[in-house]
Parts: sequence; structure tokens; C-alpha cells
Amino acid sequence: MKFFIDTANIEQIREAASLGILDGVTTNPTLLSIEKGPFKETLKEICSIVKGPVSAEVMSENWEGMVEEAKELSKIADNICIKIPMTKEGLKAVNHLKSINIKTNVTLVFSPAQAILAAKAGADFVSPFIGRLDDISHIGMDLVRDIVTIYNNYDILTEVITASIRNPLHVIDAAITGSHVVTVPFAVIEKMFKHPLTDIGIKRFLDDWKKVEK
Ligand code: E4P
Repeated sequence: MKFFIDTANIEQIREAASLGILDGVTTNPTLLSIEKGPFKETLKEICSIVKGPVSAEVMSENWEGMVEEAKELSKIADNICIKIPMTKEGLKAVNHLKSINIKTNVTLVFSPAQAILAAKAGADFVSPFIGRLDDISHIGMDLVRDIVTIYNNYDILTEVITASIRNPLHVIDAAITGSHVVTVPFAVIEKMFKHPLTDIGIKRFLDDWKKVEK
């Protein structure tokens, strides 16, 4: 499973990259709104840190506008991947961008039906938002499982990015389900490191080391 970070924060991206765990980055307008400086500069810096796909979202609501924005964003770096909302206009843009070799990530996917359409239109990635489904008492991971099954049934090459991750269990379930990619907020990555028995074990070894004759 590929491991992306879900943030536009340069420090967090540098830290995660230094751990050797990063295959890509997803940003969105909300995440970019938290950061200082012009967003294109931020995206450029992110693309210089991480070699894999860096998702940047278009804001137009018609396909022609999305395509124009996508072309502009693509000039930032070769590894920019264009995030397109799951709408009719969005899929028209995906279809067009495919024909000019610009990679796309269809975002805000909340049903298998949407994921089928996005793949047919030629999306490189689809992003089901599982945390937001859990928030309204639907089991988000069921959606990921359904999409992965459907794509596997037909050898569809579109990759599933499990998104809107809220906790380490979401990451584990995404991996068990066969999600191709998971995109994880920095705070959740930090939680993934933690286990009380590791902390206890380290303390015990440090204490015992003091008793070893040197
Ligand atoms: C993914 O591409 C999105 O940026 C992100 O996962 C959305 O997460 P949220 O539901 O926590 O905003």
C-alpha cells in the first residue's frame, strides 16, 4: 500500500519524508488555507520534497475552467496530480485531461457508483472520504471495500486512495481491505508510532543497561 500524507504543511511533510515513509501528498483548499504564503509556492516546495504524486485541487465548477486550472497547476512540477471534484463537469475534465496526459484524482467520492463513473472517465485515483461517512454514522470502510472489489473484478487500473482518515485503525483497515493508497494526517502518523509496551520496553532496557559491566 502506498502511503501519502494529507497536509500542506511543509514541516510535517519534511518530517514524514525524512522517515522514508512517503509516496505522495494530498492537499485540498482547506489544508492550503491553514498555511502561510502563496499556494503555488507552497505546492512547488512540496513537489521538491516528495517525488510521488502531489494532489492540488481545481476550484472551477465547469470543465473548461477546471482544465485551464489543471494546465496552470501542472506547470508547477511534473509530479502534480490534479484533484477534481466528483461532478459531471469534473468527469468531463478528467476525460479531457487524460487525453493530454495530466494525472487526476477524483475527490469527494461517497458511493461505489461514483467510483465506477470516475474510473470509466479515466481517473488515475479516486478518493473515498471515509471519516466524513463515519461522522454521519455510515461505515466509511465499507465504501473502500466495495470500490476495491469492483475495481479488482475488472482489472481497473484506477487506484483507490482511502482519504479522510481519523485514526490508526482506519489505516490498518484500509491496508486489510486492499486500498492501493492511504492518505494520512500528520497527527495520525504520530499515533501510529505509539505503543505503551514499546515505551515500557525501551525504559526497561535503558535501566538494565546501567547495570551492565562496561
Ligand atoms: C483527501 O484528499 C482530503 O484532503 C482529506 O482526506 C479530507 O479529510 P477531512 O475529511 O478530514 O477533511
